[in-house]
Amino acid sequence: MNVLIVYAHPNPLSFNQSILKVINTAFKKRGDQVQLKDLYAERFDPVLGEAQLSLQNEGKVPDDIKREQEQVTWADMIVVIYPLWWFDRPAILKGWFDRVFTNGYAFSFDENGLTGLLHNKRAMVVVTAGGTKEDFGKNADQLTKSTTEGTLAFCGITDIIDRVFYSVTMVDDAAREAMLAELEQMVQGC
Ligand SMILES: Cc1cc2nc3c(=O)[nH]c(=O)nc-3n(C[C@H](O)[C@H](O)[C@H](O)COP(=O)(O)O)c2cc1C
Repeated sequence: MNVLIVYAHPNPLSFNQSILKVINTAFKKRGDQVQLKDLYAERFDPVLGEAQLSLQNEGKVPDDIKREQEQVTWADMIVVIYPLWWFDRPAILKGWFDRVFTNGYAFSFDENGLTGLLHNKRAMVVVTAGGTKEDFGKNADQLTKSTTEGTLAFCGITDIIDRVFYSVTMVDDAAREAMLAELEQMVQGC
């Protein structure tokens, strides 16, 4: 498989970085081709502004966004890794979707309604949260939805694995190691 990892954490010493390393290595071990999109390291500009919107109204996208879309097109599997920030994605990741998953590229509308144009792809979404599962109560199953439902499924990707790791800042090293081991298995079983 061609695997595009989209990673959104600014701190190279974070637990998210450990998750990235495990997932990246595990896919490579399987013999998959992996491309990494490290949004902070690349200083991706997440603001969808007037210039791009005007171009989109003419059915065009900027060249740098075209290159992002080529990477998405290349991928059979899109893996998204991020910490939960305010019950959602970090803004840089939200902005990447805003700018790259454009109307006409990732989805289209016509007289029959919405068509997701990325339906031949699979996805994996891995999220860390500071809170415990109990803290979230009835909302615990909503944490990945902005990405899994709001974006990926909207664009036609229905084969999605998602996993939230709770309380990652509070648990001990052994618990974090267990989370990483689970992820390695998850990739092996893909
Ligand atoms: C701006 C910001 C917003 C956050 N919002 C939430 C939140 O809504 N719910 C939650 O459980 N944790 C929240 N957290 C905690 C992070 O999810 C947590 O620090 C992160 O998952 C830990 O992983 P890391 O060590 O890789 O950073 C927030 C952290 C920051 C910096």
